[in-house]
Order: sequence, then C-alpha cells, then structure tokens
Amino acid sequence: MSSILTPVLLPFVSVCLVAFGAQPGDATSPDWLAVGTQAMVASDSAPASQAGLRILQAGGNAVDAAAAVSFALGVTRPESTGLGGGGFMLVRWADGRVCMLDYREVAPAAATPDMFSRPAGAEGGEVPPPSRYGPLAVAVPGTLAGWEYALRVFGSKPLPELLAPAITLAEDGFALDAHYLDNAADALKTYQKHPGLQQSCAYVWRTFLGSGTLPRQGDMLRRPALAKLLRLIAQDGAGCLHHGPVAAQIEATVRAAGGILTRDDLERYEVRRREPLRCRYRDYTVLTVPPPSSGGTAIIEGLKILETFDLPRLATTDPALTTHVQIEALKHAFADRARWLGDPDFGRVPVERLTSAAYARRLAARIDVNRTKPPDDYGTADAAELLAPPVGDDGGTSHFCVVDKAGNVVVATETINTEFGSLLAVEEYGLILNNEMDDFTAVAGAPNAFGLIQGEANAVAPGKRPLSSMSPTIVLKDNEPVLLVGASGGPRIITSVFHVMLCLLDYGRSPEEAMTSCRPHQQWSPDEVCFDHDPPASLAAALQQRGHHLADKRRTGIVQFILRRDGTWIGASDPRKGGRPAGY
Ligand code: GLY
Repeated sequence: MSSILTPVLLPFVSVCLVAFGAQPGDATSPDWLAVGTQAMVASDSAPASQAGLRILQAGGNAVDAAAAVSFALGVTRPESTGLGGGGFMLVRWADGRVCMLDYREVAPAAATPDMFSRPAGAEGGEVPPPSRYGPLAVAVPGTLAGWEYALRVFGSKPLPELLAPAITLAEDGFALDAHYLDNAADALKTYQKHPGLQQSCAYVWRTFLGSGTLPRQGDMLRRPALAKLLRLIAQDGAGCLHHGPVAAQIEATVRAAGGILTRDDLERYEVRRREPLRCRYRDYTVLTVPPPSSGGTAIIEGLKILETFDLPRLATTDPALTTHVQIEALKHAFADRARWLGDPDFGRVPVERLTSAAYARRLAARIDVNRTKPPDDYGTADAAELLAPPVGDDGGTSHFCVVDKAGNVVVATETINTEFGSLLAVEEYGLILNNEMDDFTAVAGAPNAFGLIQGEANAVAPGKRPLSSMSPTIVLKDNEPVLLVGASGGPRIITSVFHVMLCLLDYGRSPEEAMTSCRPHQQWSPDEVCFDHDPPASLAAALQQRGHHLADKRRTGIVQFILRRDGTWIGASDPRKGGRPAGY
C-alpha cells in the first residue's frame, strides 16, 4: 500500500500531544483530522469524542471509552441516536479476540406482517406513514442493553464515571450545530405536513424544534429530563430501561399514543452475541457485522467482486472505469440485499454464499466495463441457485470508533433510524423513541424512508430485528488493526464505507482525499447514481456513456474512521456532519 499520510500531517506524527481537531500552529490540516500516538476517538460530535478521550486518559479501555462516547452522543445528537434506539458493535482486543454485539431494536410481540398495510388513524392533514412517525413506528430499544452487556463483560470502569460526561452535557447544555439545524428543519417540514403530530408528538416539537421557531446555530440546548434518566442509570444500573419505572413509563407513553410496545417486550429484550463476518481482501482481513445488518454482507460481496479487478492500477490509469466498477459491484450487492437479507433468527439468510469468492467471480464476470445494465441483471433472483448447497443526509444514525493505548478497538454504529426517530418521546426522561419498524418491509413493494425496496425475508414479525445497513468494520493487516471505519446514513452507509475503504486500501488516497473525494451511491433501486457533490464533468460523462442514470440529488453517508499509519493513529470525522476526532 502506498503511503497515505500526507505531508501536512507528517510534522505531527512524532509529537505526543493531545490532538483534538486542528493542530496548534497548523493552518492547513483540517480540524476534522487528528493525529495521536497512543489512543484515538472519532465520532460525529466534538463533545462526545472529548468524553471518550477523557475516559481513555483516565486509564479506561476502549469499551469504557466507547460507552462514554455513546452516552454523550445520545445527548448531543438527539437527531441521530440515543438510548431509545439500537446498534451494532465490534470489539477487537489487542490479543486478537473479537466480539460482535447485536443490540438492534426488535419488533414488539404484537407486531404483524400487515400492520402497516392497514389504514392509519387521522393525524390532521395527510396521514403520516405509521411505520415512520408515531407509536407504531417504535421497535423495542436495545442501546442501553448493549452497553450493559459490553460493560459487564469487557468494561473496567464504574458506570457512573462513564455517564458523568453525558450528564454534564445534558445539564450544562451544548451548542447546536449546522447538522442539528438541517435535521430540525427537515423534521419541521414533517410537522408542517402533518400538523396533528404537533400534539401527538409534542415533546420533540417543543424541545427540539422550538414549537416551530427553530433555534439558531450556536444556541445552547440543555436536556434536564435526559440528565434525570442518566442519573437514574448511574444509580440503578444499565438494566433499568428494561425494568421498573422507566419501562413502565415507556409502555405508558407508547400505549397512550396508540402503539403496541409493552413492558414485557422491554423485559424480554436480549442482546445477541454473533459471529462477526470475516473475509480476506487482498493483503487485508476485514471484520464486519453479519445480518440483521446488510452492511457487512454487502461490503464483503462488493469487495470480493472488486478483488477480481486490478483496482490500484485502474485508479491511476482509468479513474472513471474504477468508479463504474465500484458502482456495479455494489449494485449487485444491493440487489441481493433486497432479495435475500433479513433477520437470520427468522429464516435462512445465504450470507456464506453471497460473500464467497466463487459467487463474486460469477457476478464480476457479468459486469460490462462499458455499460451499466437494467436492474434485473443484478444479483441473483433464482432461489434454487442461491440457496443450493455451495459448490465451491444521514438522519438518525451515528457511528464512532475508539482505540486505546493497548491497541484494543471498538467500532459501533447506533441509530434511532431517521431524524428524531419516531418523533415520539418519553417526556419524563427526555427519551426519543426510534422508528426502526420502518426498516422492515413495512408495505411490500413500497420504498422505506431511504427509498429501499425490501423483500419477504425482512417482513415484520414479533421479536424480529429489522434489516439494517449499519456497517461497523475493522480492517487488519498482518493481524494488526489498520483501519476502523463506519458511517451513518441508511443504505448510503454501505456505499460510503465501501468508497472510503477503497480509497484508503486501493486507490492510494490520503485521509483527507478519502474523506472528501466524490462518493458515488447506487442502491440498485431506484436505478440511479447520486453523488455527495457534483462529480467532475469527465467522470459524469464517462458514467453516462456507460448508461448510468445520474441523479441530481446530492447525498452520501457520514463516515468516521481511524487509520493506522507509520505508528500513529489518524482520526477523521466526516466534515459533512461537523464531528471532531480526539486523541493523544
Ligand atoms: N436505521 C438505519 C439502518 O439501520 O440501516
């Protein structure tokens, strides 16, 4: 791999300083990159990265620090994440042990496959889609249960110490940034379109949207109700969201609004420890997450297809062809995502086959380097073939990565699904409830909030986990972590993580270039490519010549990564959201 550490970063490599955003005296290094020799946190919120750094500096391990980051993100990113949601986490210890935790939300026991096909109650104005807004959208949250498990098994610090930074942020307040205000403006449009929500989801309307008069950038937001919940957790332990008065209050809120989630659902919630997906990709080993996320499967399917191309050479000789094959590889993966992926506890999901080198070679052979094809030409529609024994704007999600001074690493992506989740909140505790039910195939054949058409394998069923795109990923070289990466942004998570991985592993890009270079997104359906910003005219022309439909939409995921180069950790927080890494 060619050096990806740019000259502007080199002066900092040997200095062991607390690094937070821009380096003192450096005019050129962006403040969303940081370099440290010992430890690093990258998240999409500067105060949350600082919370993790504080725990690392106090001797906490990567899991302790990641918990502090998650709790702080739940305060400072109410639009993206929080204890009312769920997530996936990969932990790798310096000695090579790996653990994957699935704390994805699950459908309540009373959920049925047709619950979103029935007409919903009137909310005033056009009826808001019930899988997206309000009580039926809420799946049983898992985030706190995930951290309860992780800290019980791997943590070294007392829970109150890990909650302290989040409690301070909730009580003292934090400054609102452009990302918050963009998402608040989107949520405001939803409330304007469906005015009945102003009453049925009044807490989010009042607390985060100023009852229709949005706050300004830089205004401070305090969250005393959430501080109360965090103090309760510090006192009673991380199990308290699933039992006792908090669980009763969640049930009361959802049921009063007409939902189906019960205290029993909360009590029965279980974190699942799953085997991570592993694949060899050129000189690297990739560790990532299995279903019920589609992210790891799609990324590995895409990487194995691209392994059949000489990408490092192509990236210098024919960048447009490189982008074309990058798009085509994931178009296959997204087609298979739609047809085959769902909760593995509820049916057979052919992950082994989809991620095998033999299958990748067959898909790669179907890629025409001169032309994209119609959607039906992607992936495998034939069940007999696939299930036969093998022959040979980001919205409500947040990703973060942590490495500690011993080399233990955590990558986690957590979500409440779309901005401010279901918009329904438990007022007493400032707890915003997710709308993860929309990640199921809510209505067969109809796109979800991210435009994804999904299949039977992802139909709603009681206790089932909705299919996700979250893709926390660890890349190893010579058995050492060289890249921790993940993103937020629904299906754009997959294409963003994939693009940044290719930039860093294959295309010889610097960290700045990997983060900022034009990212293509093609999710098979709709059959269009969108970019995060205008692509160079030559690239647009080359893709159009190959038959790609280029959309005018400018969208991508929000990536956080930590890269190992020349004995240092380089943290990077996607400037599109405004996070800052922190390390020393
Ligand atoms: N809620 C976004 C995802 O899980 O993909």
